Amino acid sequence: MPSDLFPADWLVPFEYTETVLGALKSGKESEVYLVARTAHGRTSLMAEKRFLARERRLFANTYTYAGIWGEGRYRENRAMKKNTRFGQEARHARWISNEWTNLVHLYDAGVTVPPPVELREDGYRMAFIGDGLVAAPRLETVHLDGATAERVWHELVAEIARMLAAERVHGDLSAYNVLWWRERAVLIDFSQTVDVITHPAARELLVRDVTSLARYFARRGVAVDVSNTLARLGADDRRFAHQARSR
Ligand SMILES: Nc1ncnc2c1ncn2[C@@H]1O[C@H](COP(=O)(O)OP(=O)(O)OP(=O)(O)O)[C@@H](O)[C@H]1O
Ligand SMILES: [Mg+2]
Repeated sequence: MPSDLFPADWLVPFEYTETVLGALKSGKESEVYLVARTAHGRTSLMAEKRFLARERRLFANTYTYAGIWGEGRYRENRAMKKNTRFGQEARHARWISNEWTNLVHLYDAGVTVPPPVELREDGYRMAFIGDGLVAAPRLETVHLDGATAERVWHELVAEIARMLAAERVHGDLSAYNVLWWRERAVLIDFSQTVDVITHPAARELLVRDVTSLARYFARRGVAVDVSNTLARLGADDRRFAHQARSR
């Protein structure tokens, strides 16, 4: 069941007009735009993440990224390996649909993420997390009091558990990829999200995710115990066993 972040009818349904209101963020690899969709006097705000053209993106076939997408069509896989232009295009499209598919999957599993809207050629759209036209801040820049920090740490561990139950590891979780909105932590950016069962680095990424969040919360006075948290999350259970042995 999706989280209770947005009412089911948050998005205006049909006969709408759309306006791009501006850029929320631009960077080397992606840009995020604020888009308004209006119908019958009601407006829904969306965030559109666009991935920059394949030529400008870095496609390092690192250990972490290898195997993210599983098997594709033969021609695509071969082209990607040889890094031809067609291969780069295929990889670009796969990259976008990987992030989109993960967002939808996690939303359906009840993880607190922006409700997904639609996949587009160069990116995807989701609900805008913010108030008025002001985007919610990243957790990194927020000053939580001790009691709130304690609560949010436990809530984020519960979100990680929910992701694991949905067989996913975020892969790039830190206070930079969590938005702080209406006293809640909202997870974003699933570009490095991997499958728990099939990805060789899933356990390693889980450890990294927990460690980097723990560092943030320790700085805010929470007594975090990374090994204990990982144990409670089942980081050593059978699902990861073959990876631990192969190391
Ligand atoms: N749904 C959203 N609502 C509001 N703001 C958003 C949303 N999604 C992304 N943003 C804003 O855009 C920024 C970048 O998004 P994201 O982390 O997905 O992309 P990225 O390519 O990893 O960029 P970066 O390298 O800056 O982290 C976020 O930190 C946030 O400020
Ligand atoms: Mg990010």
